[in-house]
Amino acid sequence: MRHRISFLLLTALAACTTAQPTTNAPAPGAAILATPIPAATPVVAAKAMVVSAHPEATRIGVEILQKGGNAYDAAVAVQFALAVALPVAGNIGGGGFLLYRGADGQEGALDFRETAPAAASRDMYLDAQGNVIPNLSTLGHLAAGVPGTVAGMWVLHQKLGKLPWKDVVQPAVDLAAKGLKLTEKEAAGLNNQHDTFARLNPGSAYLKAGSWAAGEVIQYPDLARTLGRIRDQGKAGFYEGPTADLLVAEMQRGKGIITRQDLLKYEPKWRTPLHGQYRGYEVLTFPPPSSGGVALLQMLQMLEPYNLGQAGWHSPQATHWITEAQRRVYADRATYLGDPDFGRVPVPQLLEKNYNKQRMATTLPYRATPSAQVTAGANLPGYESDQTTHYNVVDAQGNAVSCTTTLNGAYGSKVVVAGAGFLLNNEMDDFSSKPGTPNSYGLVGGAANAIAPGKRMLSSMTPAILTKGNKLALVTGTPGGSTIITSVLQSILNVVDYGMNAQQAVAARRLHHQWLPDQIDVEAGALLPAAQDTLQARGYKLSPRGGWGRVEVIRVLPDGKLEGGADPRGDDAAAGY
Ligand code: GLY
Repeated sequence: MRHRISFLLLTALAACTTAQPTTNAPAPGAAILATPIPAATPVVAAKAMVVSAHPEATRIGVEILQKGGNAYDAAVAVQFALAVALPVAGNIGGGGFLLYRGADGQEGALDFRETAPAAASRDMYLDAQGNVIPNLSTLGHLAAGVPGTVAGMWVLHQKLGKLPWKDVVQPAVDLAAKGLKLTEKEAAGLNNQHDTFARLNPGSAYLKAGSWAAGEVIQYPDLARTLGRIRDQGKAGFYEGPTADLLVAEMQRGKGIITRQDLLKYEPKWRTPLHGQYRGYEVLTFPPPSSGGVALLQMLQMLEPYNLGQAGWHSPQATHWITEAQRRVYADRATYLGDPDFGRVPVPQLLEKNYNKQRMATTLPYRATPSAQVTAGANLPGYESDQTTHYNVVDAQGNAVSCTTTLNGAYGSKVVVAGAGFLLNNEMDDFSSKPGTPNSYGLVGGAANAIAPGKRMLSSMTPAILTKGNKLALVTGTPGGSTIITSVLQSILNVVDYGMNAQQAVAARRLHHQWLPDQIDVEAGALLPAAQDTLQARGYKLSPRGGWGRVEVIRVLPDGKLEGGADPRGDDAAAGY
């Protein structure tokens, strides 16, 4: 088997164009074209910090820490608070990946990714002619995988929590019962979905006659009762009893396939975190079924030989090197990655230093490598949905949590479980509905990510923690579908190579390349006009795109204080004490 995998990797390598190795020197004048690093002020705290996508969730996390809870208690409280305050992505009806590093150096990777229901099958989203049926894997009851979030939080708390479970869930119960003010972005998000909600969820709290306005208070009585059952019965408050009954009844109402048995059988998994090194930092990240950890470490290996700092931030030469690394890594992702419990994923081979060095040896010094020459990709994939969310916690003892959690699309499947008040994910779309051809989102995947009962769909979520000299240095992560991996990469490069503070690192404009389509997505202001000209002259296609990702960063300063950076593209908030 090992030989077969090595052969596959070598075949992919051989498919790359052969060319002179890239020099380690920036092109003449490249630094002059570097984009100036914008100023931005981080939140600084002496002892502990929480950064999340909603101020209420951040507040709740900090209060739990101030009551004597540890980072794991705060993570559970933030997760449940986001399920109330951030319906677009926060969830109890979805899943996620949580990475931690304890103050004692212990570490763990908790996989609470959704699973395909037992009645799922490889071709469930195809018609009689074998074509993908539009929207079936993204919208409505059949799009939902078996949720993992509540089981994940329960298992985390059982292993590492300090405060009583009830105390860490209660703030979310209160938030749902009392309600909270909608921000402008949230009101707009709900209004955009009005017709879909009206069709799928008549009577849900997310729906009202007329439009939501910023500042309006929204209350969630059904969700408060569900969270109350979770508070009182733990995991059983979700996977058994009234919540499970309501979920199964909802499935029957909408011809979904999640059963009581699926709920009872759901188990989160402890996985072994991946380790890599970058410029003196130890990088801890998530293994498959995340593709993100492998891809991040591959890219860091590919980039370490190049002097990105000297080339300058978003200079043509740095962008050239980073793009060529991204292109190669995303080609590998499409071919090799899937649920490791359902097939061998060649992680050690993909993380072999020599393999990644060889991949970069095929880059051209001042010319883009066309993606079609990197591997035989013919179909153009689109983007994974970017409605996921991320939070980081560091407590006063130095325990660190980096957690990315998701419903997949905005408001997931858009199905609210009637009487239980929570949204179900549409994570089934992260499988490849038809291996080898684009699914309804336009994603290409291989057999490694084909649907099978009980299997976890491939993810890009990339929680990451960096240490230096065995001391905590950086906690990072973001939502953003396929852009997650490159946004996390940039947050690390921004700090390590460009000396940015935590807020600069998350606010800085971004670039993204994912092999196919063969283009660099460019956020407005990310590249100077002169740098754009140089990159275009080298053969790069530049594609303007609205901002993406909501990166959250906690950086440990030399004096031990914590610096929090919350992405200004959303309502995100950092706070500490
Ligand atoms: N649903 C987005 C991801 O897991 O990558």
